[in-house]
Amino acid sequence: MKIINLGDKEKASFYTAYELFNQMNENPESKLGLATGGTMVDVYSDLVKLMELNDLDVSNVETFNLDEYVGLSADHPESYHHYMHEVLFDRYPHFKEENVHLPIGDAKDLDAETARYEQLVKDKGPADIQILGIGENGHIGFNEPGTEKDSITRVVDLTESTIQANSRYFDNEEDVPKQAISMGLSTILSAKRIILLAFGEKKKDAITKLASGIQDKDVPATVLYDHPNVEVYVDNAAAPEQ
Ligand code: PGA
Repeated sequence: MKIINLGDKEKASFYTAYELFNQMNENPESKLGLATGGTMVDVYSDLVKLMELNDLDVSNVETFNLDEYVGLSADHPESYHHYMHEVLFDRYPHFKEENVHLPIGDAKDLDAETARYEQLVKDKGPADIQILGIGENGHIGFNEPGTEKDSITRVVDLTESTIQANSRYFDNEEDVPKQAISMGLSTILSAKRIILLAFGEKKKDAITKLASGIQDKDVPATVLYDHPNVEVYVDNAAAPEQ
C-alpha cells in the first residue's frame, strides 16, 4: 500500500477523476466501484468535465456503489441513490440505467436484497477500480470497527461516531438512519485496484493508524494491507503523523 500526500484536495480529486476517466477510456466495458460522501464530490465534478470534454462513451460501463441507508427510498434527498444522480448520473446522462447498481435501502426483504447485491457484484464484477473514502473511525463502506475480514454485503448498524459524522447532511441527528446496507470487506477486496481518499484534519488519526502497517480489526481500513494494488491519496491535513 502506498500512502501519498498530493498536497491538497483539488489535486487528489482531479488525479482520481483522471484515473477513473482513463480506465473507461481504455476499456469501454469498465466496471467501477463508486463511493459517496463529502470526499467524493469534487472527484465526480472533475470526472463529469473530463467525460464531457472528450465525449466519452459510457454506455457499456457498469457501476457498483458501496452502500445505501436502510429505509431511504431512491428519491429521498439524503439517499445515496439521490447523491449519485445529483453528482454524476444526471450531470453526464449517458450511463445506462441498467448498468448503474446500488443496494435498495427500502427493499421489503432486506436479507434478500443484501444477497442479491452480493451476487450481482460477483456476477458482474470485479470492479477495475474501487474508490473509497474513510470514516473518522477507520471504516470503509459502512464496515464499522470490529467487522470481520470475510464479511459480505449485509445490513449493518451504524456506530454513534458515524451517525454523528453523517448528521451534517440531515436536518436533525434523529433523522440519520441507524442502519445501512454495505458491501462487506471481502466484497471490497475483490476489486482489482483500490484508490482511497482522505482529506482534512478529522481523517488524520485514521490515516496515521492505516500508515502503521499493523492490521487491526478496530480500524477496518487496515484490511487493505491484504490487497496487492491499493493507493491512498491524502491532503496535507490528513497526512499521517511521521
Ligand atoms: P466523508 O465520508 O467523505 O463524508 O467524509 C467518508 C466515509 O465515511 O467513508
